[in-house]
Amino acid sequence: MEKKIYIETYGCQMNFSDSEIVASIMTENNYSATRDAEDADIIFINTCSIRDNAEQKVLNRLKQLQVLRKQKPNLVLGVLGCMAERLKTELLEEAATGSRVDMVVGPDAYRDLPQLLLDVESGHKAVNVILSTEETYADITPVRYASNGVSAFISIMRGCENFCTYCVVPYTRGKERSRNMKSILSEAHDLFERGFREITLLGQNVNSYQYEDEKSGKTITFPELLEAVAAIDLSLRVRFATSHPKDMSDELLQVIARNENICNSIHLPVQSGSSAVLKKMNRKYTREGYLERIAAIKSIIPDAAISTDIIAGFCSETEDDHKQTISLMEDVGFDFAYMFKYSERPGTIAEKKFDDDVPEDVKSRRLQEIIQLQNKLSLRSNRADIGKIFEVLVEGKSRKSEKMVSGRNSQNKMVVFPDKGYKPGDYVIVKIRDCTSATLKGEAV
Ligand code: 5AD
Ligand code: SF4
Repeated sequence: MEKKIYIETYGCQMNFSDSEIVASIMTENNYSATRDAEDADIIFINTCSIRDNAEQKVLNRLKQLQVLRKQKPNLVLGVLGCMAERLKTELLEEAATGSRVDMVVGPDAYRDLPQLLLDVESGHKAVNVILSTEETYADITPVRYASNGVSAFISIMRGCENFCTYCVVPYTRGKERSRNMKSILSEAHDLFERGFREITLLGQNVNSYQYEDEKSGKTITFPELLEAVAAIDLSLRVRFATSHPKDMSDELLQVIARNENICNSIHLPVQSGSSAVLKKMNRKYTREGYLERIAAIKSIIPDAAISTDIIAGFCSETEDDHKQTISLMEDVGFDFAYMFKYSERPGTIAEKKFDDDVPEDVKSRRLQEIIQLQNKLSLRSNRADIGKIFEVLVEGKSRKSEKMVSGRNSQNKMVVFPDKGYKPGDYVIVKIRDCTSATLKGEAV
């Protein structure tokens, strides 16, 4: 009988994409995937280290799973991803974590999973946390086990070498490396043939993609790759995440502007509106530099939606620094934002060199102010869409009503409208009649 694996994923899109690679490696090796943890012989938890609360969530989940272990003595429990890489064999110390774990496998070692499982079966604990300078899993066709059949991720580069002082990613995901363009194009072609209509090109630093073609010796850049993917078919939408402002070139913006099917939504994490804080974060741009890139986006792609990431309460952030973040948010008018309290991560430059000196209550209050402002900005942005007409790619039934369907427009806004027998993957022209701060509501025209 085939053994069954269950994969649970935490964190970023890259992790969800990695879990599809893990599923592929396992099914190639005669394991089958199940969607039910209780039904599994092997449970993999693909983990995130980005903030302390992400790690706490996983540690709690591991504790919960000990109950299942008691019922199923042969159950194998493996920790994958960023926490595996950061904590390594510490995760195997039951006294430290409160949980018994059999395997610890870092993000570049997934090809080794079948062998590591054999080691576990023969009674050993198994660990592989070696980071690679080359691994891109280019030849592995991900199993889209949790997919809606319409949109899919394609991982195009891995790792990060920017060393923002707050960030753990360079330590958990290693050096930057880009995947062979041919393998990306063939994966995108294949998805299109199978009925997928939206692809998101993924990387920790996606717009610094650079691949040297073996044959021609030519270096392929991100704008070139993006345009090649868009050329597959006009009815295939292309998105990408996440970009660093330093690599957001005019050339890239022009490629987005001239290709109808490259979506007009740009996620450009700013982190802070204060140049002093940005310098301390080692972000490699100033407030003015960031605003200059925003001006370029608005002039080259006038109807682009712009979203961002913001950290409240980084080391030595003053009230004035915080006010500058607030004013930058207003200047840009972000359509959407992910907002966080600074969380000190062990091993990062900030942890080693700076004091985490903004008191918890101040961090919380600043974050609340940022969230409140963003809610206002999102509502304003959505209200401005009332009366406009968008092409929406249907993803499925709306969560709230069987009579409605939902999908996204090019700006990545969720649009809900009455179902007239649409199928996932249909494009529908919708006129917007109403909105909340999170959703547009309309009807087909
Ligand atoms: N604390 C809080 N937020 C962080 N991020 C990254 N590291 C930290 C940290 N130590 C946020 C950044 C990044 C997003 C993925 O997570 O905003 O863009
Ligand atoms: Fe979490 Fe970042 Fe790792 Fe993604 S890359 S899993 S967000 S720490």
